[in-house]
Amino acid sequence: MTKRIAVLTSGGDAPGMNAAIRAVMLTVQHYKLELIGFYHGYNGLINNESTLLSLDNVNGIIHRGGTILKSARCAQMFHSSGIGKAKKTLEQENIDALIVIGGDGSFSGLIDLQHAWPGQVIGIPGTIDNDVDGTDFTVGFSTAINTAIEAIDKIRDTADAFERVFLVELMGRHSGQITFNVGIACAAEQVLSFENVDIDHKEKTLQQLAKQINAAQKSRHTSFLIVIAENLWPNGTQALATELQNLTNVDCTLCTLGHIQRGGSPVAKDRILATKMGVAAVQAIMSNKSNVMIGEQNNTMCHVPLVEAVKHQKQVSQALVAAQQNILAIAAQNET
Ligand code: F6P
Repeated sequence: MTKRIAVLTSGGDAPGMNAAIRAVMLTVQHYKLELIGFYHGYNGLINNESTLLSLDNVNGIIHRGGTILKSARCAQMFHSSGIGKAKKTLEQENIDALIVIGGDGSFSGLIDLQHAWPGQVIGIPGTIDNDVDGTDFTVGFSTAINTAIEAIDKIRDTADAFERVFLVELMGRHSGQITFNVGIACAAEQVLSFENVDIDHKEKTLQQLAKQINAAQKSRHTSFLIVIAENLWPNGTQALATELQNLTNVDCTLCTLGHIQRGGSPVAKDRILATKMGVAAVQAIMSNKSNVMIGEQNNTMCHVPLVEAVKHQKQVSQALVAAQQNILAIAAQNET
């Protein structure tokens, strides 16, 4: 009997998810298998919103952001009743293997499902946050940082014109991968993130920032850009902007980039990574692997046990944090 593979996209959508679905479809076709797509993440699995995918479905989608299968978060997957319903659908549809494209939350659901259902389960890391352990990059991260960089370069122009302080809040949930990489690429005068700010001593950070802003205003007459991770500052980044403005008497304007970072056409790096991972996911199924995430480490594809992938959040490179803190930020403040 022909092997039936299923695929779904789950959690925050990420540019390149479509490229991954396409690669899965093409590889399934190569091995003469069948591919079923479930819509709306795990909700579609629970409610059996499925469709038989063909090459027609994936034609012309490699450059499109979002996901043709739609995505969602699914609270029901945290409960045994949800897992039970998902299992029932997989049995009804005679699915042999399930590929989930998503982040660590989606993989936790997959681990729970694997305990109840004997089919093969494979994860493809797709999230702009790049916070999944066991892979150097997740699908969507490269596009998200490029989108943020493009936006901040524009903010820099207006900030320069007004000699103004801008705070730009970036996504990443509880990870500073986006914030650090974007901050460095935009030559931000300050990067504030979980990795370098001790929020229990936020008063110290505040005083240091105020001092730097005042010094920059006196000596350079130019913009001062702070990039900051969402969920870092207690009571939100606007509270920080207001506190800084009160301390310095300088206009401090907040710009929250938000969901713009999740959209757009995937950059080359994401299209290629997604394609390699999609092919590797089906190949893993063909070699009877299960319970693994497809990762890429040092330019080599690998299989990472799902439990390892979700155990810890991937850390921002210490070299990057140290370079920003000790060299780049200080140098940027002296740039004319
Ligand atoms: O995980 C991707 C992400 O965009 C995070 O960076 C962000 O914190 C979160 O999703 C936002 O989720 P939602 O769109 O459900 O508000």
